[in-house]
Amino acid sequence: MSCSVLGIGLAGFGTVGSGVWGILEEHGGLIESRSQGSAAMEVRKIAVRDLSKKREGGAPAELFTTNLMEVVEDPLVEIVVELIGGTEVAFNLIAAALKVGKPVVTGNKALLAERGAELFAISKETNTPIYFEAAVAGGIPIIKALQQSLVGNQIESIAGIINGTSNYILQRMTEAGLGYPEALKEAKDLGYAEADETLDVNGWDAAHKAILLGSIAHGFLINYKNVYVRGIEKVTPLDIKFASDLGYVVKLLSLVIANKDGRVEIRTQPSFLSKTHILASVHGVFNAVAIKGDHSGESLFYGRGAGQGPTASSVVSDLVEAARISETNMGFLPYKEHGSLVDIDDTATSYYVRFSVTDRPGVIADIASVLAKHKIGISGTHSPVDADNPDADFVEMVFLLHSCPFGRLKQALAEVENLDCLTSRPVVFRIETL
Ligand code: HSE
Repeated sequence: MSCSVLGIGLAGFGTVGSGVWGILEEHGGLIESRSQGSAAMEVRKIAVRDLSKKREGGAPAELFTTNLMEVVEDPLVEIVVELIGGTEVAFNLIAAALKVGKPVVTGNKALLAERGAELFAISKETNTPIYFEAAVAGGIPIIKALQQSLVGNQIESIAGIINGTSNYILQRMTEAGLGYPEALKEAKDLGYAEADETLDVNGWDAAHKAILLGSIAHGFLINYKNVYVRGIEKVTPLDIKFASDLGYVVKLLSLVIANKDGRVEIRTQPSFLSKTHILASVHGVFNAVAIKGDHSGESLFYGRGAGQGPTASSVVSDLVEAARISETNMGFLPYKEHGSLVDIDDTATSYYVRFSVTDRPGVIADIASVLAKHKIGISGTHSPVDADNPDADFVEMVFLLHSCPFGRLKQALAEVENLDCLTSRPVVFRIETL
């Protein structure tokens, strides 16, 4: 580093970027004292799309530019903060910064999860680190917890609620009985969902974060193409009600589990979780991550997974980390070339399966005999009579199934679907015991 006060370049000055500016203004002195002077910092360049936009916070006009590459090329900038999002322009910016030896701080989970292999290769080659605390669970210090505090552990499992928007929507569907479209609209009106909510609700925002946690925990970059992801778009109020009748809540859970054979199981999907499990009480837009280390046992990290203050707080912690850089502190770099993931068909849990069926004698027996043929045990059934329509021709029939590999369940359900009593495709949720 060439100066005693480190120059920061901010690419992007939206909610998070301006939050970073605000924290450095408010707590710059405190940060300097806490880092024994090694993290004295000032923002020297800010790249934005539109110079005419009115901005609060008092950043001087002369710092602003519309030329993104200036935050990399300006000789007074020594650490580059990428907060523009997306996977193309942001990739080029980060790659350019690393190539000229400037450490990068980013909150861009999609970029790292999808193109991390390329970026970490450049990071290794140039001996220049990438820090990304803000990419997972907003203000919760989960990356440093995994990388530093839990470094002496094999990570046996990570279970996270790491998309606040989905968690909010599912909670409103549970507590207020809203349908999915109404709950989504509420989340958007409150500003929780991203402007384009696709990644929030299709599970990929959470999956990107899980990929990063899993990669740190297991040392190899998990290929997003091999990760099983389902979102919450198809969750119905009926299944949420049945879940509740049976003692469960529906949560979008991201799981990274180390199998005994060395393979890693990673999946994100709406799942049934006992109402008594600690993650069941994570409400609204809050996030939580439960990590089990072989020596630490279980630790729970809970907090705000999005928003200006929490996310900017994580960016600033990375800036301090970058300021303390030495050759031996490269943040995260994969240290195994590959590892193996468990095929989704080999992953086993218990299941809730709801069949919509014609109400005729023998339908339970028909379904049960197919399940039995595939060696799938039934632990319970649930089929409340519709009080408003007790003589309906159709009923909802829930089977709770003992643990079996997902592939076997799929085969059995394909056969059940051939029965003439089924009026629509079965609905499946995993029951997670964690
Ligand atoms: N949109 C995300 C969420 C926050 O709802 O949790 C940023 O990843």
